[in-house]
Amino acid sequence: MAGREGDSEIVDVSSLEPKIQELIKTSVEARKLAYCPYSKFQVGAALLSDENEPVMYTGCNVENVAYGMTICAERTAIVKAVSDGKQKFKAIAVAADNSVQDKFTSPCGTCRQFIIEFGSDVDVYLTKPGSSNVLVTTIESLLPLSFRSTFGH
Ligand code: THU
Repeated sequence: MAGREGDSEIVDVSSLEPKIQELIKTSVEARKLAYCPYSKFQVGAALLSDENEPVMYTGCNVENVAYGMTICAERTAIVKAVSDGKQKFKAIAVAADNSVQDKFTSPCGTCRQFIIEFGSDVDVYLTKPGSSNVLVTTIESLLPLSFRSTFGH
C-alpha cells in the first residue's frame, strides 16, 4: 500500500487480481475514444458485470456544444451495460489524467448516484497515467448515506 486518501487505499496495480488489472487496462484504452472537444479532458471507464462469467463494458465521456448535455464516461458504460441486459456490477475502473493537480479522477456526484442505483456493493478503481498506483475505494464510500425511497431499492 502506497498511502491512503479518504476512505480508500492506494495500492500497486500488480497487487490486484488479474481480472481487475484487465478492467483497469480496458478503462485506459476506453479513454482514448473520449469525445471532449470543449474540455479536452479525456475520461475512460470500464465496468465489470457481477455474474459467473463477468462481462466488461467500456465508456468514455461524450461532450456536446450545449455543455450541460455532456455524458460522463461512467454513465456511458452503465447505459451500455443496462441496455445489454446487465443490472448487477462488481467493479468500475476510471482512468483520467489530472497531472496538473497530480490527483486521481473520481466519479462526479451524478455518476456516483448512477452507479449506486444498481447496487451499493461496487468496488471503484481510479488510475492516472504514468503511475502504477491505483486508488481503491467503494461506491458506498464515495456516496455515504445515499438517497433511499419507498419506491426504489
Ligand atoms: N467527466 C467524466 O467523464 N466523468 C466524471 O466522473 C467527471 C467528469 C467528464 C465530463 C467532461 O467531459 C469532462 O470530464 C470534464 O468535466
